[in-house]
Amino acid sequence: MRHQPFGSRGHEVSVIGQGTWYIDRGDRKSAVAALRRGIDLGMTHIDTAEMYGDAEPLVAEAIAGRRDEIFLVSKVLPGNASRRGAIAACERSLARLRTDRLDCYLLHWRGAYPLAETVAAFEQLVSAGKIRGWGVSNFDADDLDEMLAVAGQGGIACNQVLYHLRERAIEHAVLPWCEQHGVAVVAYSPFGHHDFPQPGSKAGKVLQTIAEAHGASPRQVALAFLTRAPAVFAIPKASTSEHAADNAASGKLVLGQDEIAALDNAFPRGPRPRSLPML
Ligand SMILES: NC(=O)c1ccc[n+]([C@@H]2O[C@H](COP(=O)([O-])OP(=O)(O)OC[C@H]3O[C@@H](n4cnc5c(N)ncnc54)[C@H](OP(=O)(O)O)[C@@H]3O)[C@@H](O)[C@H]2O)c1
Repeated sequence: MRHQPFGSRGHEVSVIGQGTWYIDRGDRKSAVAALRRGIDLGMTHIDTAEMYGDAEPLVAEAIAGRRDEIFLVSKVLPGNASRRGAIAACERSLARLRTDRLDCYLLHWRGAYPLAETVAAFEQLVSAGKIRGWGVSNFDADDLDEMLAVAGQGGIACNQVLYHLRERAIEHAVLPWCEQHGVAVVAYSPFGHHDFPQPGSKAGKVLQTIAEAHGASPRQVALAFLTRAPAVFAIPKASTSEHAADNAASGKLVLGQDEIAALDNAFPRGPRPRSLPML
């Protein structure tokens, strides 16, 4: 598994991590085993949120006894992101996760509370040792400008955004902004949630051909493409050990420039949309 610095003052974090949205909906044993297998294979970056139902307690079970190996991320809902609300929400997440700290705490998306209130809560949580750092999610470049004005350089650890082969909008402004300011980009729904390219489609065949050349799976190729820039991490969600193992193996796959060009052509970036797409 490759590791790289998480933002400008962060520690080294696994480039491929594990998402947990809807992981509580299927077989619990299988989900816990999948997360544990993923951790064994180096996917120690685990993403969850207060919004994800029973995912936090499930993560607690998966990481029990191994907390120090994990880079643990959770998120506060915008409706809870007031000065006091964010602190209370964090305490609830810590209790559900059965831990005393988060490695990164994110504002899930921008809501009605002033950014300064949320940042004040985050900084208080940092001072209290409850979180090691904080970041944002679903922030477009203009939101990032505003957040930078509130937080100052080095404050924002990451921006977690929608990024997959058929949704490359972040490449227009968000990714360059984050690279310029030392902010990690975390690609969510890297397989398109439930919309991975069909193997029989024209673009799917390009993916398949590259995968075969490496003895890899098309999803491994997709993850390697998405994480080709050193600022980018990806957090696929898997509820079986087989899927987790498949995803972890992408951590050692490196694509050639010709393969990146072929994927760029098969899954074009398209024009910049008026607003940042999100799920
Ligand atoms: N910040 C935000 O607003 C936001 C929004 C969306 C998502 N997220 C985060 O990003 C994570 C990932 O996104 P996502 O859950 O939307 O979707 P995703 O990771 O793009 O795709 C998940 C789907 O891919 C399947 N899958 C995973 N590995 C596979 C493999 N190797 N082979 C075949 N199928 C495989 C999963 O099946 P199984 O479950 O059966 O393994 C599941 O159906 C979330 O879980 C969450 O943590 C954040």
